[in-house]
Amino acid sequence: MAMILYFVLLSSLLYNINGNDGANTYTIDDSVGYGRTFTGIGAISGGGATSKLLVNYPEPQRSEILDYLFKPNFGASLDIFKVEIGGDVQSTDGTEASHMHYGWDEDYTRGYEWWMLQEAKKRNSDIKLYGLPWGFPGWLRDDNDLPWKNIPTTADYIVKWINGAKVHYNLNIDYIGVWNESPYNITYIKTLRKSLDKAGFGNTLIVAPDEFHWVIADQMANDTELANAIYAIGSHYPKTQSTTNAKNSGKSLWASEDFVWGRNLAENITIL
Ligand SMILES: *[C@@H]1O[C@H](CO)[C@@H](O)[C@H](O)[C@H]1NC(C)=O
Ligand SMILES: *[C@@H]1O[C@H](CO)[C@@H](O)[C@H](O)[C@H]1NC(C)=O
Repeated sequence: MAMILYFVLLSSLLYNINGNDGANTYTIDDSVGYGRTFTGIGAISGGGATSKLLVNYPEPQRSEILDYLFKPNFGASLDIFKVEIGGDVQSTDGTEASHMHYGWDEDYTRGYEWWMLQEAKKRNSDIKLYGLPWGFPGWLRDDNDLPWKNIPTTADYIVKWINGAKVHYNLNIDYIGVWNESPYNITYIKTLRKSLDKAGFGNTLIVAPDEFHWVIADQMANDTELANAIYAIGSHYPKTQSTTNAKNSGKSLWASEDFVWGRNLAENITIL
């Protein structure tokens, strides 16, 4: 999935909000304390060409749309912007080019995500940037098509993308994901953390696993290195659900891809 691309960061539940369709009255109950911290609301440009057409829009409409997305206190006023790290694969709606078609190839001008990232930052210097691969080029994949053929090489490939953002566009990537809606590899997550630190990207934090469940929280409970490697647990379409281990993990819990379920928004933000 990845078509709609709005994701709500559910770190949250500041308050219970009870509302009914058509009613304007909301009961705010903080008697149980302040609850979890609300991180913000973001959007995704990824899943293969979901923003492909925007770059070709005429002005001023193109800038107007970008303003509605990113300008603070204006339209959507997004707090986080997540983009696909192109992987030369069909990643839902199309294909986004990798920055490394081969091990010896590097190019940080391909595709339109670099442009989107800059347009976001231009409008809101505080917006958080988040990169996530939907797929990986063939040279990184093993016989089962998993990108763990050589885990340090895959980690280095991702670090190069983060470094490319800094060197070519002066963009700091705040968050980095593992592999969209695909099986994660714990050794890879730990290796990525080490590779980031070694390359001087200690401030780029890992969000994992961008899968449809919270199972990683159970593994984190038994694995301190894994827990330390992960900043936020990102689950897709969790609706109002999480788990005890997720809640007890001490981590931010994000709906790292989601949309509003049903018509009753208030009902749907009473979560976690
Ligand atoms: C992670 O990848 C390595 C290398 O391919 C493999 O040996 C290991 O079993 C994988 N671990 C998981 C949990 O998939
Ligand atoms: C974590 O450890 C507990 C206690 O040893 C065990 O019952 C549980 O199955 C383990 N969970 C995982 C995901 O390994």
